[in-house]
Amino acid sequence: MSVRIDGKELAAKLREGIREDVQRFKRERGKEIGLAVVLVGEDPASQVYVRNKIKACEEVGIRSYSYHLPAETEQAQLAALVDELVGDEKIHGILVQLPLPKHLDAESILKRIPPEKDVDGFCAENVGNLAMNRTALVACTPFGVMKMLEAYGIDPRGKSAVVLGRSNIVGKPMAMLLLNADATVTVCHSKTKDLAAVCAGADILVVAIGRAKFVTADMVKPGAVVIDVGMDRDENGKLCGDVDYEAVKEKASYITPVPGGVGPMTITMLLYNTVLAAQRS
Ligand code: GUN
Repeated sequence: MSVRIDGKELAAKLREGIREDVQRFKRERGKEIGLAVVLVGEDPASQVYVRNKIKACEEVGIRSYSYHLPAETEQAQLAALVDELVGDEKIHGILVQLPLPKHLDAESILKRIPPEKDVDGFCAENVGNLAMNRTALVACTPFGVMKMLEAYGIDPRGKSAVVLGRSNIVGKPMAMLLLNADATVTVCHSKTKDLAAVCAGADILVVAIGRAKFVTADMVKPGAVVIDVGMDRDENGKLCGDVDYEAVKEKASYITPVPGGVGPMTITMLLYNTVLAAQRS
């Protein structure tokens, strides 16, 4: 039987601290902390994410500036908006919700955001600084995972950590954070041989591949810490993660549920990064 890592509870606790930091910033600098959120098009999932981000800003006292552009927006129009936000002193963080409509080049849009306003931690300079274990704004989901480990007293030092998934947004920064925390890190992906055996060697297993209940109990070492970044639907359409929670919870020492695990931490770390960006401005 394992300890359930409660992301919802931890996120609420962190947000209280963030609210205090936001108030202190206002008192000391005499101005608000601002986050610009840019959404292009009508993707339903993106609309939900953006709404939740704006709501979370309100809860902690961060002023959000929301821009919802039509799906037909041209590259130059979006670029001009981003440039305007870059030059606006009221705005400490800029978030362009992904994915962008197919006719737009996301990479060249994101390149316009300077590292100090890149609260998603996506740009090459922030990723490079993270790789060199220097001060950086760190991608929100893996950053949230590190906060969860810390809050539950799980020190990665000397442990074998396996990251399943190699995306730029989760897998790669997750691996770098664990390496910076002195874990011995293996990154697995679709071409990895003997994937189950590699996972079964992990003291800490972080799964971010987007495949419902992919990690089964036989892939987990007894007593392992299992972090599930997945947000999938099972065969009945019910929300689930990349890990077969019911079976794996009997074998792990700590495990995150879906929903209520990593998910609530991601937006919390966006708020956290926005405060950091403002404090460093
Ligand atoms: N789309 C899905 N996740 C994210 C995220 O963390 N940031 C942005 N900007 N877009 C996303």
